[in-house]
Amino acid sequence: MTIEKGNFGSIDNKPVEYFILKNKTGIEAKIITLGATLVSLKTPDRRGNFADIVLGFDDAKEYMNDTRYFGCTVGRFANRIANAKFTLDGKEYKISPNNGQHHLHGGKVGFNKVLWKAEPFENQSDKGVLFKYFSKDGEEGFPGNLDVRVTYTLTDDDELKIEYAAVTDKNTIVNLTNHSYFNLAGHDIENAYSYLVQHLMQINADSVTESDNELIPTGKFLKVENTHYDFRKPVSIGWKMGKGYDINYVLNKQSASELSFAAKIVELKSGRVMEISTTEPGIQFYTGNFLNGVKGKGGTVYNKQTAFCLETQHYPDSPNQPEFPSTVLKPGETYRHLTVHKFSVQ
Ligand code: GLA
Repeated sequence: MTIEKGNFGSIDNKPVEYFILKNKTGIEAKIITLGATLVSLKTPDRRGNFADIVLGFDDAKEYMNDTRYFGCTVGRFANRIANAKFTLDGKEYKISPNNGQHHLHGGKVGFNKVLWKAEPFENQSDKGVLFKYFSKDGEEGFPGNLDVRVTYTLTDDDELKIEYAAVTDKNTIVNLTNHSYFNLAGHDIENAYSYLVQHLMQINADSVTESDNELIPTGKFLKVENTHYDFRKPVSIGWKMGKGYDINYVLNKQSASELSFAAKIVELKSGRVMEISTTEPGIQFYTGNFLNGVKGKGGTVYNKQTAFCLETQHYPDSPNQPEFPSTVLKPGETYRHLTVHKFSVQ
């Protein structure tokens, strides 16, 4: 086994472990058992210089206190559920409100604040870690015992794959994602804000789900054409920033749950390129509007709009929006989600 393993601090006297996956290019992904969280990701620029391109912290306790969801696995339900309630099979479920009266990213103790069991694995061209978590019936108000698996795999083709699977023993709802904040110039680049201008992004979506001022979908789909949401062709992220983005894109798909191209980002100065493909119907594009001087790795201070998230997922508030693709999971079915991040330079 060539996967490095070590201690990343502790939570309630329980050790948090880290694993470092390294491929033949030298790309390194470091993941911890708290929240099955990606804590660092080092990739080369066009000259072969490596930088850590995700925001994060140096210690488990800082992740435990984090309210920004740096790099973590989000669940049982990513994004907002209006008024923290939904109806399933005629029964109303109240889940924990943690964003005003709304539910956000799994509630008070979401999947990002729990310890996962980890099993590292490797074969000729892949290295990875399988994380397991058992979420009890009623946790944060959700029905059903949920057996969850998240697998991170780093391939020699410079892909970081995140694969999710879940089964339940009662009808329930599931929406899992990863909440990494990226800056392809490096998480600790000086004047990080100005670097977002040098990120050209393309999103394979003709529309977004319109949302109200509390970021709850209105149920309407908005065409991106002639709006500042239009990323169908590569455009600078920072150039159009304004108040920043926090919006769900409806990905163009030939068929539901196919693995298809979602987004591509090129950082002009370093030449780093990240291409995202996913089986999910949506992607939340968020520009770190709530970052306000968060002290992160190596003392780096993360300010507003100095990084971006592209969270592959089902649309926000799907349980209350009959027109949106369903997030219901039933006994006997398996929830599956695959997202691939492919790295290259240009
Ligand atoms: C998601 C949401 C944002 C915000 C962040 C966490 O990206 O869309 O509104 O809640 O998570 O800070």
